[in-house]
Amino acid sequence: MRIFIDTANIEQIKEIHSWGILDGVTTNPSLIAKEGKDLRTVVEEIAELVDGPISAEAVSLDAEAMFEEGMELSSIHHNVNIKLPMSIEGLKATKALYNEGVDVNMTLVFSPQQALLAAKAGARYVSPFVGRLDDIGHTGMDVVAEILDIFDNYDFDTEVIAASIRHPLHVSQAASVGAHIATIPHSILRKMVSHPKTDEGIEAFLADWEKVKNL
Ligand code: E4P
Repeated sequence: MRIFIDTANIEQIKEIHSWGILDGVTTNPSLIAKEGKDLRTVVEEIAELVDGPISAEAVSLDAEAMFEEGMELSSIHHNVNIKLPMSIEGLKATKALYNEGVDVNMTLVFSPQQALLAAKAGARYVSPFVGRLDDIGHTGMDVVAEILDIFDNYDFDTEVIAASIRHPLHVSQAASVGAHIATIPHSILRKMVSHPKTDEGIEAFLADWEKVKNL
């Protein structure tokens, strides 16, 4: 499973990139707003750091404007893909961008039916929002698994990004069901590294080594 970071914060991206495990980055308008910079500047900065897919989200609501915005954003860097919200207009714009060779990440996907339509329209990625489904009493990861089955049945090239990841267990569950990618917030990536037994083990090994290191 490829690992993307779900942030627009350059320091967070730098840190995770330095671990050698980062395959790409997803942003959204809320994440960009937190940084207080314009989208183009943020995307340019990310593209200098990370050699992998970078999602930049269009905010228009009609297909023609989404297409124009998508063309503009994709011209920032060849690694940029365009996040479009799942909607009829989003589907039309996905097809138009696909015809121009621009990758689309169809976002705000909450059902297998939406994912099927996104794949038919030519989306390169679909992003089912696992945590937000869990929030309303649905098992988000079941939706990821069902989408994967459907794509497998028909050999769609569209890849599934498990998104709205809320805790480390979501990440291992996404890998178990075979999600192609998980996009993970910085805080959860850090949590994934830690285990109290690892800390305890390092402390015990060092303490034992102290006793004999001068023999
Ligand atoms: C996906 O690409 C979105 O940016 C993100 O995963 C949304 O997560 P949230 O539900 O924690 O806002």
